[in-house]
Amino acid sequence: MFSVEELDVEGKKVLVRVDFNVPLSEGKVADDKRIRAAMPTIRYLLEKKAAVILMSHLGKPKGKYAKELSMNQVVSAVEKVLGQKICFSDDCIGEETEKDAEELKPGDVLLLENLRFHEEEKENAPEFAKSLASLADFYVNDAFGTCHRKHASVYGVAEHLPSAAGKLVEKELEELGKLNDPEKPFMAVMGGKKVSDKITVIKALLRKVDKLLIGGAMANTFLKALGKDIGKSVFEEDKLELARELLKDDKIIIPADVVCAEEVEEGAETKEVDVDSIPAEMMCLDIGEKTIDIFRKELEKAKTVFWNGTMGVAEIGAFKKGTAEVAKFLAEMDADVVTGGGDTAAAVDDLGLGDKMTWVSTGGGAALKFLEGEELPAISALEKSYEKFK
Ligand code: 3PG
Repeated sequence: MFSVEELDVEGKKVLVRVDFNVPLSEGKVADDKRIRAAMPTIRYLLEKKAAVILMSHLGKPKGKYAKELSMNQVVSAVEKVLGQKICFSDDCIGEETEKDAEELKPGDVLLLENLRFHEEEKENAPEFAKSLASLADFYVNDAFGTCHRKHASVYGVAEHLPSAAGKLVEKELEELGKLNDPEKPFMAVMGGKKVSDKITVIKALLRKVDKLLIGGAMANTFLKALGKDIGKSVFEEDKLELARELLKDDKIIIPADVVCAEEVEEGAETKEVDVDSIPAEMMCLDIGEKTIDIFRKELEKAKTVFWNGTMGVAEIGAFKKGTAEVAKFLAEMDADVVTGGGDTAAAVDDLGLGDKMTWVSTGGGAALKFLEGEELPAISALEKSYEKFK
């Protein structure tokens, strides 16, 4: 695989797939982490006197134009971070877009409209990939968060242009790659909602870690599997058997106490109870003090930690303590700490602790797929492109 630094881009047009699938609030970018993360590649290309064409998806528009998912809402945030004006194209393919791309001069930046307004993007349609590629001389993939998808803008397009990995993609592969051969003890902290989303990665991690600490709503399924009465908490009925099977591995540690409430809302009355005394009318919404303490004592021994998924409903003040305590503790540790996943990264950023972690991945699904040991389609496309154009 080629690095962007190996392309001779002076005076050329470079099509850069970024992951600007960012959270929006009232038409404005609510968190620009992914935009900032793409800057090293964009700035590098501009310094080398290339013209840069940025393309991304935003949300899940199902192949149709949707005003609320237009990339034009991202323009001002990109301009602010980049410190220069950029152009915007109302589509990502077609005559008008081709014209917009043709007019670009070295040092210019053009952002294309949401790729997923065309269903051909997700279908990896060959003609669509070819049309995207026709806009530029080179293709660079810097959209790590989307590398687990086999879509036209991360897969098919690389067949048509000499291609390279952007600096973010390289850094993500390097940092996450270290977890394949981690300094021991290696521990993972997993949270979030569903066991089903993370089952493959849990199994893969169990082969590597010394301990796997489980929190979040996912822990409810494990508690239920042990026969605990978990009140009105959400759990996955069809994953109980699997949870029972996994719990045979004594590397897994689940909560000893939880914060419960009847409602998932700010100001709800909460109770902190042992997992043997969860009130019938309540839901488990965070890990309790005892569990925080148990997790801290385990993590203290670690030399490497991977963390994915919040310990509770972290966006609500009453249920964020477990997540915040784990984040603060990991930030202070003298160990390699890698976190991944949108909610986890948001919680870490919210506490201003992003810089204290070894690496905060911009990928959720992509980071998990990588840790499962699966080949990421977009990375294999870059490798194939390298073979084809070398
Ligand atoms: C993400 O937010 O994880 C990436 O941008 C991929 O988005 P997707 O799950 O809609 O493909």
